[in-house]
Amino acid sequence: MSNATKVTLSNPSRLYKALACLVLALIALQYILSGGLDTRPIEGLFSTNGTRYPEHSPRHHQRGLIIYGAETVQTYPTVIVNHTSTTIVSPLVVGLHDVNNATKFDTNTTKFIPPLNKIIFNSTLQQRCPLIPPNLVGPLAILKNPPEMSVLETRLKDVNQGGRGNPKNCASRHRVAIIIPYRNRYEHLVTFLYNLHPVLLRQQIDYQIFVVEQEGTGQFNRAMLMNVGSVEALKERQFDCFIFHDVDLLPEDDRNLYTCPEQPRHMSVAVDKFRYRLPYADLFGGVSAMSREHFQMVNGFSNAFWGWGGEDDDMANRIKARGLYISRYPANIARYKMLSHQKEKANPKRYEVLRSGEKRFTTDGLKNLRYELIDKKKFKLYTWLLVRLAPMKKKS
Ligand code: BGC
Repeated sequence: MSNATKVTLSNPSRLYKALACLVLALIALQYILSGGLDTRPIEGLFSTNGTRYPEHSPRHHQRGLIIYGAETVQTYPTVIVNHTSTTIVSPLVVGLHDVNNATKFDTNTTKFIPPLNKIIFNSTLQQRCPLIPPNLVGPLAILKNPPEMSVLETRLKDVNQGGRGNPKNCASRHRVAIIIPYRNRYEHLVTFLYNLHPVLLRQQIDYQIFVVEQEGTGQFNRAMLMNVGSVEALKERQFDCFIFHDVDLLPEDDRNLYTCPEQPRHMSVAVDKFRYRLPYADLFGGVSAMSREHFQMVNGFSNAFWGWGGEDDDMANRIKARGLYISRYPANIARYKMLSHQKEKANPKRYEVLRSGEKRFTTDGLKNLRYELIDKKKFKLYTWLLVRLAPMKKKS
């Protein structure tokens, strides 16, 4: 045995130190090899149809950075990206609006993604927003007497056409489609927008509100409208998650974050109508959030619940069947006020449909969703979709 070995074996603390040094050295080596210390800028120009312009190819694209391009050669900005910032340096920038509609080039997958993101473009790409939004106020006074829609539209200056908002000084961590199943509740809708937009803006969410209205006077199908909302929302942008929101529920605390959840999140935990108590453990109705992946994994909501009730319970079953679970914020934060309205007639068959739900988890949902989009408008404070729902085909 060599002298050195004898020393380390006879002194275990030295052995540990040597091992620790070795581990640290390996970590540092891996960091350097993965480009962690490489601060060279990346330069790249890309067209929206996915062509990369070789003369401007990225010199280095290992770090999962995203590079944005513009529509035509003439309007190309040069985009320099390094670890923390992106800067446009080209004097060729004629219209930055072209950049806003740019294709994303994902350097991780080396694939082009069609224009989905509104890029926050000053001279530098902003830092990601802090995990905890700095301007939250906590408990909120619910505003029950909104001004007229036209007045509200001018007041909510920071909301963009279609009911979109995103933080001004940082890049949001969450792209959220807020989906509202809707029919005949205009007053509620105005109140909802009046209360919700300021909360979402303070929470630094990158969001869009979709109001999905069921045409006609047939039985309401809340679940199906939410399925439609998710499908239509994804035609606009690659949202990270959906928040399904009854139009009559208003959050009472802006610490109840409308962010994308790790696990399906039931958000309306404590509602005044239920005396701020959760009626039962598996409740998933009112306001609930799901990541795009999880929503697609469970095949969305069932389309089989016509009339009031049951569809959220079926979703809770789908969630459990897939090994997911319902998460919740604490009840002192996840509080809501419900606007008053006439009680809907409950679907007497809902328990029956619910009991047989499991058989249909993989077939009934996003997979067999049939509807007709009759109209779509981007109002200032929301995107409106009018849809005709088609009943499920009976098996012959
Ligand atoms: C219904 C659910 C509803 C819950 C709370 C249940 O009986 O099936 O759809 O969300 O009551 O109102």
